[in-house]
Amino acid sequence: MSSLEKILHIAFKEKWSTGHFNFSESDQLRAICEAAAELKSPVLVGTSEGEAKHMGYLEARALVDAFKQELGVPIFLNSDHHKSVAAAKRAIDAGYDSIHIDLSASPFEENVRGTKEIVEYANSKFSIFNLQFSIEGELGYLRGDSKIEKEKIEVKKEDYTNPDEAGRFVQKTGINRLAISVGNIHGISLDEPDLDIELIKKIRTALPENVALVLHAGSGIPDEMIKKAIEAGISNIHINTDIRLAYASALRAQLEQSEETTPYKFDASAREALKKVVKEKLELFGSVNRI
Ligand code: G3H
Ligand code: ZN
Repeated sequence: MSSLEKILHIAFKEKWSTGHFNFSESDQLRAICEAAAELKSPVLVGTSEGEAKHMGYLEARALVDAFKQELGVPIFLNSDHHKSVAAAKRAIDAGYDSIHIDLSASPFEENVRGTKEIVEYANSKFSIFNLQFSIEGELGYLRGDSKIEKEKIEVKKEDYTNPDEAGRFVQKTGINRLAISVGNIHGISLDEPDLDIELIKKIRTALPENVALVLHAGSGIPDEMIKKAIEAGISNIHINTDIRLAYASALRAQLEQSEETTPYKFDASAREALKKVVKEKLELFGSVNRI
């Protein structure tokens, strides 16, 4: 069991959740890591394919190592929503701690095949280099992007994760975490998301205890619903839009109100705004004082 798996298992048993936050700049990463360190919380940080392309896989790895060393907290680097086997292998090769292989847009058997290939590839690296990996697969279809959505987004019946399929998917692939579609939508949509808490419970029951359930698209979900989702068995929650908004709004305001040209000065308020949101989420998830 990797140390991330151990933390996720403890979180599930004690009914709290770890947080996962995206970054594409080192100052965002610093804000997330400092928030986690100040609250004594383990944390996952992630780069989507686009974010990794901007930041660089090796650069992301090196920076996370530096923050771990400086701050002394467990920080796990995840390849968020990597949508092809080739992209996920790239993250494994760069030494990411955690791989999210998202083939949820493909038919079930194709999703199983590609996800299994990544589990086997990671395991072969594990035995050669004695590294620890946690692999996340995804089943069910998540709509939207991490931004403010101007239109209503309807979650269709066929988008939802089927509990029986989830059980078979986990058994066939050997993944450590499963991302599910239970009414969640990436980004902040015009209508409030309505999570199917009973479905989360059914999926949880269909999976072995050591496989973690992941709730993506955590932005814009009311706090009470997040708490119910954790109670139902979610132990990792992804947040991106909420921190992007906090960062972008503070930066925009700062640039409009002064002629400051020194980057570390004009982006200080953006960093603080992002850090504040991360702290609020870690408190909401019950992840504070867990290390
Ligand atoms: O993988 C990233 C998350 O699911 C972010 O979703 O932008 O709705 O918070 P969000
Ligand atoms: Zn996501």
